[in-house]
Amino acid sequence: MTTASITLAALAAMKAAGQRISMLTAYDAGFARLLDRAGVECVLVGDSLGHVIQGRDSTIPVTLEHMAYHVECVARGIGRALLLADLPFLRYADEHDAIESSRRLMQAGAQMVKLEGGRALVQVVTRLVELGVPVCGHLGLTPQSVHQLSGYRVQGRVPEARAQLIEDARALAQAGAAMLVLECVPDSLGAEVAAELAIPVIGIGAGAAVDGQVLVLHDLLGLGEDRRPRFVRDFCATAGSPAAAVAAFVAAVRDGSYPATSECYGG
Ligand code: KIV
Repeated sequence: MTTASITLAALAAMKAAGQRISMLTAYDAGFARLLDRAGVECVLVGDSLGHVIQGRDSTIPVTLEHMAYHVECVARGIGRALLLADLPFLRYADEHDAIESSRRLMQAGAQMVKLEGGRALVQVVTRLVELGVPVCGHLGLTPQSVHQLSGYRVQGRVPEARAQLIEDARALAQAGAAMLVLECVPDSLGAEVAAELAIPVIGIGAGAAVDGQVLVLHDLLGLGEDRRPRFVRDFCATAGSPAAAVAAFVAAVRDGSYPATSECYGG
């Protein structure tokens, strides 16, 4: 990989070549610079900032202005990585809202927007893509739906839910989504979705057979909440410094040693 900027075409080529993609969240310029220099391909300004920056118990209170502020900060730290940003809760429920929210985040420096949900968003995704906005879907555990899901739980365990998720993934890809984040699903489902779709599938608790891995930066640094999901590895505990921890994550994603079987959900 050269030091040229990471494009969607480069990420698609990585999937085609079987090279694993690494993605981490960042919320400020300093950590964005550290991630960029460590060779992370994608930096996500996640609405997880509601948890790790704002100390809230869900992502629902995060506003478009909160997101735009952090995207501006992160964009100043990035030279190479692709910068994605989450569209906040109910700011993409219809085409008009989605266009306005994407405009705000893209003008703040995002190069791609991420949204949570499947078939119900086909029209929104189609319109954004028609207008030149790259879109990343997010399926499985979708944190903005935490109340509907009755908590942060593994998704897609029963055959009906599994079939629905695969349908949602196909629908998003057909609508033009260029990437998919898949959160907290059995590893076999992660493998099936990644094999089915031509676009990169980036997992977080979705097993080892997806096209890349994403973690919330604070989890990787051992600064997460008391309840630690199975897929979280504290890279800082062994690496010793934030820069070494990020480098270890990138290396472990590339060589396939993260996630280990004990960090995946079977079934
Ligand atoms: O908000 C976020 O950080 C995310 C990741 C967990 C993928 O969506």
